[in-house]
Amino acid sequence: MAVSDLLDEAKRVLPGGTFGNMPAEVVLRSGKGGRIWDESGKEYVDFLLGSGPMFIGHAHPAVTAAVQEQLPHGSTFFGNNRHGIALATAITEAVPCAEQVRFVCSGTEADLYAMRAARAFRRRDKILKFEGGYHGMSDYALMSTSPKNPGNFPRPIPDSAGIPKSVQDEMLIAAFNDLDMVEGLIREHKDELAGVIVEPFQRLLPPQPGFLQGLRKITQEHGIPLIFDEVVTGFRFAYGGAQEYYGVTPDLCTLGKIVGGGYALAAIAGRADIMAHFDRLAVADEDFLFQVGTLSGNPVASIAGLATLEVLKQPGAYERVFATGRTLMAALDGILKNAGIKARVIGEPPLFDVVFTDHQLKDYRDTLKGDKAIATQFNKLLRERGIMKGESKYYVSLAHTQADIDHTIGAWTEAAAELKKSSS
Ligand SMILES: Cc1ncc(COP(=O)(O)O)c(C=O)c1O
Repeated sequence: MAVSDLLDEAKRVLPGGTFGNMPAEVVLRSGKGGRIWDESGKEYVDFLLGSGPMFIGHAHPAVTAAVQEQLPHGSTFFGNNRHGIALATAITEAVPCAEQVRFVCSGTEADLYAMRAARAFRRRDKILKFEGGYHGMSDYALMSTSPKNPGNFPRPIPDSAGIPKSVQDEMLIAAFNDLDMVEGLIREHKDELAGVIVEPFQRLLPPQPGFLQGLRKITQEHGIPLIFDEVVTGFRFAYGGAQEYYGVTPDLCTLGKIVGGGYALAAIAGRADIMAHFDRLAVADEDFLFQVGTLSGNPVASIAGLATLEVLKQPGAYERVFATGRTLMAALDGILKNAGIKARVIGEPPLFDVVFTDHQLKDYRDTLKGDKAIATQFNKLLRERGIMKGESKYYVSLAHTQADIDHTIGAWTEAAAELKKSSS
């Protein structure tokens, strides 16, 4: 089918002509290492990485071989299988908070069950999250994730149609990196709070020194489970995730993306006494958290995850990703400065982007000061020059080469010059 026919067909059978993720005109055909190709054959350096899972590169030979080894023996059983058990073991060995693991298929599910586990454990209802923090698509998670007009803290603003109004009463919203605010809210609501969920690195915003440590201390003081959403950061910032990287251990965490090696797998992991709520025999009937999923822990995704983790355990893997990311961040910053464009390159080396503002960025409201129109134009200019990325993220891969870095720097230089020309 020609590309134009594919676009027409997509328009006919998909709302908005898309799966909901990327613009309809992006139709991707294949990926290898740090590159992808679209249906017209155009090649891109890929910083989208499938929205993050393809950290070691597309179609990595070790992952492909592992999956091919499993495929003739069946793709899913519903019951326990050796690869899933081995992956759970690998997670407990890698991730500081992980004493036990429950598999699901997406980060959305992992986050909704982590919040439910905190409620079951605490026998209380309210969850505190941070404005701008993203925890998937559940009714509870879709509160003040991207409000256009932020309201008064701690009242949440739903991000989507179709969410029952009553859910707003179950969530409290605080500002990321504002320890005074969150401490005040926790003290005030401690008797209703089931848990606190946070992205330890919120979208592009690193935690300020002491923020995660303070959050850990105040939640511990009141016996309130602290959940790190490590769907993005797990196995990316370090082999033990953001909790290893920032040196703060939560009670529970959620994992997704990298841990499934590009297949549908995510996990809730954490303290055994909280995870016990998933075990009917370990807790009283009314404390049991009922959780099943058709494809949970299937052997194909599990073996893909295991093969990915083996690659990441090789000496120098993280040093390499961080070196690539540091080079890219410094280059982008320099190019935009030279072009006289107001911009801040923020994030950590494995995951960063530029926000077009000269303001300091420490929380969600600061990020609203960024010029979105310029960002969209810059991304468009880059796509024309063979750079694929999401709306607001560069995901760096272990597979990115010096040639990828060189191509990217060339594209940034040209795109920045174009941007400057069109704004003057
Ligand atoms: C921090 C975070 N949590 C949860 C999710 C949801 O994961 P999924 O898309 O697998 O449902 C994402 C997805 O990007 C994420 O970035």
